[in-house]
Amino acid sequence: MKTVAVVGSQWGDEGKGKVIDFLATQADVVIRAQGGNNAGHTLVVDGKKYALRLIPSGILNPEAINVIGNGIVFDPKGFLEELAKFDKGVVKPGKIKISDRAHVILPYHKELDALSEEARGDLKIGTTKNGIGPCYMDKTERSGIRICDLMDKDIFAVKLKAQLQAKNKIVKNIYGKTELFDFDTIYNEYLGYAEEIREYVDDTTVIVYDAIKEGKKVLFEGAQGTFLDLDLGTYPYVTSSHPTSGGFAVGAGIGPNMIKDVVGIVKAYTTRVGEGPFVTEQINETGEEIRAKGNEFGVVTGRPRRCGWFDAVMVSYSARVNGLTSIAFMLLDVLTGFETLNVCTAYKMGDKVIKHFPASLDDLAKCEPIYEELPGWSEDITGITSYDELPENAKKYIDRIEELIGVNIDIVSVGPNRLQTIVRKNVFDN
Ligand code: GDP
Ligand code: IMO
Ligand code: MG
Repeated sequence: MKTVAVVGSQWGDEGKGKVIDFLATQADVVIRAQGGNNAGHTLVVDGKKYALRLIPSGILNPEAINVIGNGIVFDPKGFLEELAKFDKGVVKPGKIKISDRAHVILPYHKELDALSEEARGDLKIGTTKNGIGPCYMDKTERSGIRICDLMDKDIFAVKLKAQLQAKNKIVKNIYGKTELFDFDTIYNEYLGYAEEIREYVDDTTVIVYDAIKEGKKVLFEGAQGTFLDLDLGTYPYVTSSHPTSGGFAVGAGIGPNMIKDVVGIVKAYTTRVGEGPFVTEQINETGEEIRAKGNEFGVVTGRPRRCGWFDAVMVSYSARVNGLTSIAFMLLDVLTGFETLNVCTAYKMGDKVIKHFPASLDDLAKCEPIYEELPGWSEDITGITSYDELPENAKKYIDRIEELIGVNIDIVSVGPNRLQTIVRKNVFDN
């Protein structure tokens, strides 16, 4: 079986898009299985930059099929806008498939996302306001509208009417709004989208299953990251889906035994957007230097990302809960020029030393990092193509992190471009 899942191992934005695009040059199928257009995945090929949100990052491989799986919350408007950015030649018929079981993001989801964030005040999550949480809420409440419903104008009318009645009560009575959602406007707009996406809609569980059974190379593209997972992340400062490897089986509609390898995408330092505790955060010149060198600004919201040192407590937890079989170590070039580098090996909470990432955010907020200091390097590494050519101190940094996490670093990324990638082992050959 040649199936590889790619998971974000920190708080998202680890460089998943780059790795998927790189691996997709060999893949037959690439599938997104959770989240929606809260994701922002960047690919850089031949100097051209692509920012993808819902379309899987295998789109530049002319042969690969790109699947938007059943676990996705699908914004038809966002999808069509994203699609319009590609030349017709890139998106050939049959190249994109959308699950008929995916849930549809509607205008009231986005509005409720913004209104509930505002109502949370200081306790806001810092969501991307794309309606992700409210859409997953309807899904679990069992009142959501799925793609298969949108494809049938009569079923869509009945379900939308019921939803608008309920949602208008909420915006009026809870949030005191006078401007309500109008059935005809939304119905006609979304019926238009339905016709535009109809050619892509399919039972994607069959496509993925058949590809795996035929021995094809299938890549599962994680969005967000382990610490944004609804169960395993820094709850409540998380997203509403399961970005950990377990989420791929449900979100793609396959058995868990069909995922062979799990590659953790790990930034050489740590970043996060949105609220919540961050033990190794550097609110100082170091953090600013990392942000400037790594261009750490959100793809979706443009927000400056919070930056800090590498946290081995976090990534060890990721290795465990995802069952990582290898690591792609990203943005190593951003650390060039620091005289010394800190790596957090454990936390100190009062007089206790903590090695396992805690569940309680109150505890996490009390944790102080215990750092190990490693020597930095000053040589430009952005043109290096093999591990052996890296400066000694860069190799020491990689080796020490490999040792702390206990998982092989098979890929090292030294720049945003597809070609700025050092491969120590082909993950499809594991
Ligand atoms: P994703 O959400 O995990 O796909 O990551 P993002 O695209 O949101 O953020 C990663 C950023 O780092 C993007 O701007 C990438 O172009 C960039 N990037 C990826 N790998 C490298 C690398 O090795 N070095 C540098 N300097 N930038 C990288
Ligand atoms: P990629 O795939 C980083 C964060 C938001 C917020 C929280 C909840 O590019 O790595 P949501 O809109 O999902 O309800 O927001 O999750 N978040 C991300 N942070 N990268 C992402 O995706 C993210 N997707 C959501 O900032 O803190
Ligand atoms: Mg991103």
